[in-house]
Amino acid sequence: MSDRYAVFGHPVAHSRSPEIHAEFARSTGQDIRYERILAPLDGFAAAVAAFRAAGGRGANVTLPFKHEACTLATELTMRASDAGAVNTLRFDGERVLGDNTDGAGLVRDLEVNLQRPLRMARVLMLGAGGAAAGVLLPLLEAGIASLHIANRSPGRARALAGRHAGRGPSVSGGGLDDSMHGTWDVVINATSASLSGEMPSLEGLGFGADALCYDMVYAPDRQALPGPFLQAAREKGARIAEGMGMLVEQAAESFTLWRGVRPDTRALLERMAPAWRGGR
Ligand code: ATR
Repeated sequence: MSDRYAVFGHPVAHSRSPEIHAEFARSTGQDIRYERILAPLDGFAAAVAAFRAAGGRGANVTLPFKHEACTLATELTMRASDAGAVNTLRFDGERVLGDNTDGAGLVRDLEVNLQRPLRMARVLMLGAGGAAAGVLLPLLEAGIASLHIANRSPGRARALAGRHAGRGPSVSGGGLDDSMHGTWDVVINATSASLSGEMPSLEGLGFGADALCYDMVYAPDRQALPGPFLQAAREKGARIAEGMGMLVEQAAESFTLWRGVRPDTRALLERMAPAWRGGR
């Protein structure tokens, strides 16, 4: 019988994880079954318990359960405890390992797929919510020179920066204002602004040579044209990319944790990502 895995969310119908993991299983010859499970908003723990009892070996966790998933784990990786969020669970008998592969997925997408080295990079992160916090530790550990977190509510950015001060790279926080003026090598949009049709302004931002602007949100309707945030970045001369690569790479990291085999992501990414990704 195939080993069972699942993604838990609410909503979850839109999740592309089953398709991604099915492809990984096929290409690595692993015998797994991966399904979507819609957990009730007040019934996440019970849904996971039922899945484990039925033989589930591991799970991905998406919104709004990533925070609650921390409490189900008997053991958390550093990157999960730093993020305060778990997107991957592995069930080993009584033990439940909670990990967060989002940041590693982002770093791998930037450095390997998009060929934008992070060593000594000056990084601007827009947003200080769950999406930003979820990727911070791997980003800081990638050898960047500095990180500035800019957020609509400046206090939230300063608090997030404060929690990560003194780890090597300089980390600061502020508002969506003059404090983010400067020259950047990598700009990451981790706000949910584009979902409501708004976007943080790029006015006053300078870009270094081979700068890359990355929108963590991937919108299915942006296959032909990037959204306004990335279009503005492109007009300023930056390369642009969206979060499909991060989605595929975080899945590959989860798959590796579960199965001990790292799947090759290139063919899948070529098929799923928009043609404009990575270019100017
Ligand atoms: P997520 O898990 O997606 O990060 P979140 O924790 O609610 O969700 O955070 C949303 C982020 O998008 C926050 O940084 C939020 O800014 P505030 O902390 O000031 O709320 C940001 N955001 C949402 N809508 C925005 C908008 N219209 N303009 C700028 N930032 C926005």
